[in-house]
Amino acid sequence: MRPSETALADARTALARCDALAALSARSGRIDRFALTRSHAEANALVASWMAQTEMATWVDAVGNVCGRLEGLTSDLPALLLGSHLDTVPDAGRYDGPLGVAIALAVAVRLHARVASLPFALEVVGFSDEEGTRFGAALTGSRGLAGTWDEAWWAQVDAGGVRLREAFVEFGLDPARVGEAARPPESLVGYLESHIEQGPSLEDADRPLGVVSAIAGARRFALRVVGEARHAGGTSYERRRDALVGASHAVIEVERIARTEGVVATVGALEVHPGAANVVPGHVDLTLDLRAEHDADRDRAWDLIASAVEKRCTEGGLVFEAVETHRAQAVAMDPALRDAVAAGIRATTGEESVTVLFSGAGHDAMAMAAVTPVAMQLVRCRDGISHHPDEAVRLDDVALAIDAFEAAVLAVAAEF
Ligand code: GLV
Ligand code: MN
Ligand code: MN
Repeated sequence: MRPSETALADARTALARCDALAALSARSGRIDRFALTRSHAEANALVASWMAQTEMATWVDAVGNVCGRLEGLTSDLPALLLGSHLDTVPDAGRYDGPLGVAIALAVAVRLHARVASLPFALEVVGFSDEEGTRFGAALTGSRGLAGTWDEAWWAQVDAGGVRLREAFVEFGLDPARVGEAARPPESLVGYLESHIEQGPSLEDADRPLGVVSAIAGARRFALRVVGEARHAGGTSYERRRDALVGASHAVIEVERIARTEGVVATVGALEVHPGAANVVPGHVDLTLDLRAEHDADRDRAWDLIASAVEKRCTEGGLVFEAVETHRAQAVAMDPALRDAVAAGIRATTGEESVTVLFSGAGHDAMAMAAVTPVAMQLVRCRDGISHHPDEAVRLDDVALAIDAFEAAVLAVAAEF
């Protein structure tokens, strides 16, 4: 399972590209690269320059995804898309998203010489907004490309009060033309994504690579508990309507119900208003992220959480409000493409039985499944850590991932 020197050299290039992207951030000393910001534009330009080095035709589509294309046997053939996302969570690691783009680029470089014999065009895409960090809705880059853009997203506002529509214009995009990003199904052969695992299963199994069976369905909510801001010294307990006490009960209920229902639920952000030591909290904004292998389990957990928190809030004289900001159904991988990814891993590592993993993390592949068959390869990451600056991968694993991803593309071509 020792990768070749060529594969190791390609992996070094891929990791150096992740480092170069990591330097493009809204804040120095950490990685904050959010959709439709200056660092996103810089990332798109850098990725486009790498694509151009491989003689790809490049463009930024109508929702801000950077795309590159190599023609196949003839021009205008449907395309096999390879890619992942370029945006990040706050204070992110450097591999969630960018590694998949770098591996896709490495495969495009390798296949450049023989692409003219392929029965499809090869495209690489760096999606603009998978995480939903800035505006709330996630997977908007891939949903734009898949033709499932939601007009309700235009109303979303970032933490600085900028509307999505304004951010589009600022980025040089025309909101009226968003539909032009949508790719007709007949223009696509499929979508393959390589991504770090974001969990410890591969490390535990001592395997470098795995193939995804399905991706968890997710829902996200913006929650608000409304009480009344009052003087901290002069307001007795009888008269207090403390929003943070209600929000704290909400956090506890979320964990209790999620554990009982066998789903995962996270309150990842909490803002107390007006946020002063001597003021009883008037209202609290919280986020909730809910995931499960089966959408019905996730939806049942949400119903239970909503009614338990509502009850707690009513008892405390508080008002509970919830707005859904994101919903993605659980998605199974396409059997034929999944076999191609597994065949690529088998051919590279010599493993008889390839590790099959269910992904609790969301991916652009979920959105792409609405328009074309999809499959994913996962790469071992250290200690399963992700959404944290300590994300790490091994050079030899990345080398194997490039070999296996290239082999997967060739397996798709062979079956075409
Ligand atoms: C993306 O990383 C997600 O799973 O939220
Ligand atoms: Mn992520
Ligand atoms: Mn990701």
